[in-house]
Amino acid sequence: MNAPVKPGAVSAGALLIPLPDPAIRFEQVGKTYPGRRGQQPVAALAGIDLDVPAGSILGVIGRSGAGKSTLIRLVNGLERATSGRILIEGEDVTGLNEAGWRRQRRQIGMIFQHFNLLSSRTVFDNVALPLEIAGTPRAAIAAKVERLLALVGLADKSARYPSELSGGQKQRVGIARALATDPKVLLCDEATSALDPETTRSILALLRQVNRELGITILLITHEIPVIKEICDRVAVIEGGRIVEQGETFSVFTDPQHPTTARFVEAVTGVEVPAHLEGQIRAEARDGDSLVLRITFTGENATAPVISRLSSVVGVDVNILAGRIDAIAGQPFGSLLVSVPSRLPESDAVLGALKSLGLKAEVIGHVS
Ligand SMILES: Nc1ncnc2c1ncn2[C@@H]1O[C@H](COP(=O)(O)OP(=O)(O)OP(=O)(O)O)[C@@H](O)[C@H]1O
Ligand SMILES: [Mg+2]
Repeated sequence: MNAPVKPGAVSAGALLIPLPDPAIRFEQVGKTYPGRRGQQPVAALAGIDLDVPAGSILGVIGRSGAGKSTLIRLVNGLERATSGRILIEGEDVTGLNEAGWRRQRRQIGMIFQHFNLLSSRTVFDNVALPLEIAGTPRAAIAAKVERLLALVGLADKSARYPSELSGGQKQRVGIARALATDPKVLLCDEATSALDPETTRSILALLRQVNRELGITILLITHEIPVIKEICDRVAVIEGGRIVEQGETFSVFTDPQHPTTARFVEAVTGVEVPAHLEGQIRAEARDGDSLVLRITFTGENATAPVISRLSSVVGVDVNILAGRIDAIAGQPFGSLLVSVPSRLPESDAVLGALKSLGLKAEVIGHVS
């Protein structure tokens, strides 16, 4: 802890560097849709406070109807907030008129779940469209489109029509089109939800490349937790129009605070009790029982030979029931279900040793 700085004194260690503006900032944003024909108004979003740091990939996850699409549509002016402020690179866009939004939208690319390509235009002409609208000269358009198609791996598909492409290829065209006007921000509304898992991974890898190589900030929304795990630096969990939890992906996944977050991340971080043991696990111990523990490892611990150290340090047999080692936002994370003797003092020694190794252990119960 630094000593408090006396009035008039200069803190030698504290160099004050102003933080860069976030690419996008939501300040107490609310959105209420007017009720349709005699229906009550729908409060889709309320009190949204969220920063999307410049250069980051931030994912918003939530169930159907949580308000995800509304949130993203506020950023490109397809919907208008009913309260609060939205700032893009420090500029308040909340009160922009249509002309202001047209200018603003050139800085913002968007891709969609169903790609939204024009079927009567070739791949080339789909990517060229935003440049034509912006009045870019023909020769410059050709050079730009060829560069973008090479970037997304479709240099040889320039003259094809959308109907001749796979879903993954269509989304690559969507990405090339979104990048045509050199946006600073890319918005992705369920961009991989219509794709199979392998194609999803290849599109996510392309998005990460776009983020890292071109420095484009990405705000994506999804209901699929693997998408967040794979590429997001930060995550926000939305429920009933409110953000219930947000933070760095790794810390949110490994230590969720809200029950909704816990349910989402369990699918990618948890290990299930094997079927043959289900129903046999009891809260109370009986003579000769084994204690079932869930051990979670994070960061460098995930790769340490934990089990062998437990056996050698405590001298008990550790039986592995189930486990997984994975990476979350590029950092290793593991989860193991083990059984150890439940009699004292061995069980206490095991728990003590786990603690001294810096591992989180949770008692699941006892089995005979
Ligand atoms: N134009 C509209 N008029 C009235 N209500 C709307 C409108 N658009 C969305 N809503 C309502 O606002 C709430 C949030 O909708 P939104 O589409 O933002 O959710 P979502 O999280 O994107 O859902 P999904 O995962 O199904 O796409 C829902 O209750 C929805 O019915
Ligand atoms: Mg939606």
